[in-house]
Amino acid sequence: MSLDHISKTLLLLISLELFSCFKIDTEVNQSTDIILEEAPEIVNLPACPIYACKPDNVPFANDTCVFYDSKTNTNLCSPCKDSSTYCEFNFNSNFSCIPIVEYEHGESNPGEKCRTLSDCDDAFVLSCTDGVCQGTVAGKSCDSATFCNPGLGCISGTCQPLTKSGSKGCLSDFDCENGAGCNITNALDFSSNLCIEYGSVVAHEIISTCINSVNNLCEYTYCAPYKGLFACTSQLKTVGNIPAACAAENAQCTSTSDDFFDPPFSFSQPGCQCAYTETGTELYCDLFNGDAQYMAYYKLLFEWLQTADAKKCNTDRRTASRCIESNWDKKKYDALMYYQANAYYYPIIQNTEPCVLNSFLDQFYGMHRRAYNQDNDSSANILILSIFIIWLN
Ligand SMILES: *[C@@H]1O[C@H](CO)[C@@H](O)[C@H](O)[C@H]1NC(C)=O
Ligand SMILES: *[C@@H]1O[C@H](CO)[C@@H](O)[C@H](O)[C@H]1NC(C)=O
Ligand SMILES: *[C@@H]1O[C@H](CO)[C@@H](O)[C@H](O)[C@H]1NC(C)=O
Ligand SMILES: *[C@@H]1O[C@H](CO)[C@@H](O)[C@H](O)[C@H]1NC(C)=O
Ligand SMILES: *[C@@H]1O[C@H](CO)[C@@H](O)[C@H](O)[C@H]1NC(C)=O
Repeated sequence: MSLDHISKTLLLLISLELFSCFKIDTEVNQSTDIILEEAPEIVNLPACPIYACKPDNVPFANDTCVFYDSKTNTNLCSPCKDSSTYCEFNFNSNFSCIPIVEYEHGESNPGEKCRTLSDCDDAFVLSCTDGVCQGTVAGKSCDSATFCNPGLGCISGTCQPLTKSGSKGCLSDFDCENGAGCNITNALDFSSNLCIEYGSVVAHEIISTCINSVNNLCEYTYCAPYKGLFACTSQLKTVGNIPAACAAENAQCTSTSDDFFDPPFSFSQPGCQCAYTETGTELYCDLFNGDAQYMAYYKLLFEWLQTADAKKCNTDRRTASRCIESNWDKKKYDALMYYQANAYYYPIIQNTEPCVLNSFLDQFYGMHRRAYNQDNDSSANILILSIFIIWLN
């Protein structure tokens, strides 16, 4: 198999789709065409934007859920009243309540739900049969694995069965069955590399690759250089109590390894986030993957990957939210999305009013949180954005 197209490819194991939507852009260019009746006079603006509930005396159009007042750097929030709608980001206007739609045009890939072919991505899908987008069958030619039906990878230009966990035969995770990733001992030899179950390699065991300090084969997801190769770390959490307060210019968000690594090393987290509060003065560190909130997320993600339902996903789409939604229990899917957002948003949801959680963060957090029935659990109990990257060198 030609390695040309792989050698420079960064393969995103946890699909960007599942993660990329979580960037909150606070510098949205929003319309300011309403004038607050009694705009508070703020002399010294706080460091962070203010997120507050809409006062009764501010008129909102029925479908407006968030209005940004640039004079006071304030987001006024009013959750959508109709549960068949959600509060959608809108970069050039107010946020609006819009209907929740189950199918977006052309969104589904092989193994994902559809009503008609137009619901499927026509770049990869041949038909919509029995409510599922159908890709290329075994033995037929493919340009990439996304073309192939579930259970198949694109190997030497044809769709062929994925390699089972515990067997050799992979150059990337997507050559392994959906619950397993590739330990790439020899990047030039497909037959020398072992498919290993995600999350099954315990702390201090050796693995062959470690990209951005992450390898999903590791139980605690983090890895670090060790004697010319890499080793999985123990559970690396935030040092000290969480939420850890920070200042934008001096984040001081750290986690420290055990002394298996000689010398022990510290991770530091660049992210210091504004909490979405009424004061606009609180900033907190992003969490580490070993913190309980991220661990709860990974536990459920690894659980998903081992299910029979995950085998109904195309290999490239094993962690795509669309495929999980199409094939897993609804409650579990909502729980997964909720855990993910709860971990990722952890610093920004500290001391945040429910009206803000249920409007500003609705699209990525509120809907799933409500569906999972964790309304009372905004921040307390249960993880930086970790994009899992396997780099074939
Ligand atoms: C914000 O939006 C307005 C209206 O669409 C536009 O005229 C203006 O140039 C935009 N400003 C920025 C900074 O993008
Ligand atoms: C923004 O929201 C305000 C209050 O609901 C409304 O009066 C105004 O028409 C909205 N603007 C746009 C562009 O939707
Ligand atoms: C807003 O909703 C109320 C109550 O449902 C309704 O009476 C009113 O006509 C709506 N206004 C607009 C502008 O849609
Ligand atoms: C992964 O590959 C490396 C390099 O060949 C090897 O040392 C290590 O034992 C393998 N890890 C596992 C868990 O099989
Ligand atoms: C929410 O949590 C608070 C504090 O733990 C508790 O007193 C309250 O009963 C809870 N409410 C619900 C609806 O569970």
